[in-house]
Amino acid sequence: MGGVLLQLPSWARVTAKRRGHIDRVGELIATWAREIGVSDAERGRWLRAVSMHDALKDAPKELLRELAPDPWDTDSLRHGPAAAVLAARNGETDRGVLDAVRYHSVGYAAWDAVGRMLYLADYLEPGRSRNREAQRRLAARVCEDVAGVLREVARQRIGRIIAAGHPLLPETIAFWNSLACDE
Ligand SMILES: [Fe+2]
Ligand SMILES: [Fe+2]
Repeated sequence: MGGVLLQLPSWARVTAKRRGHIDRVGELIATWAREIGVSDAERGRWLRAVSMHDALKDAPKELLRELAPDPWDTDSLRHGPAAAVLAARNGETDRGVLDAVRYHSVGYAAWDAVGRMLYLADYLEPGRSRNREAQRRLAARVCEDVAGVLREVARQRIGRIIAAGHPLLPETIAFWNSLACDE
């Protein structure tokens, strides 16, 4: 593969392992951008969202709580909203990119292509260990059937939240309903 060298934002706080994940998400999303044939500007939006989405995942809890005091009262969900705050402070004005970063862990019904592609790539990047072959097949289908793969990925991700007995956030329910009603 190779070819995509993502530049992380100056405010990123990531471990080497996290950097590996972010790079794989970038590789996958760049492959889709090329196969779908989106413009360089659109590809740039997708890659900006990738570079920022987990940029604060390894940041201290205190910083995350300061930047994102209320997001869903769950520490593990603060890194997306916190990254969106720093992205905006550092000049990112693209609403679709900011929403992709902010909601990447939970889903968002009003996403444009950036949020949707990030949600897919974050889950389907090949470093994730579970069901690797099935995930690879899903990743390979994205270009011909984004809506179908998105529904399947959301079904798996949200199904796991339910299986673990966790409540669903309102944003996640609205996201799922928007997909289920798509057709
Ligand atoms: Fe994340
Ligand atoms: Fe991620």
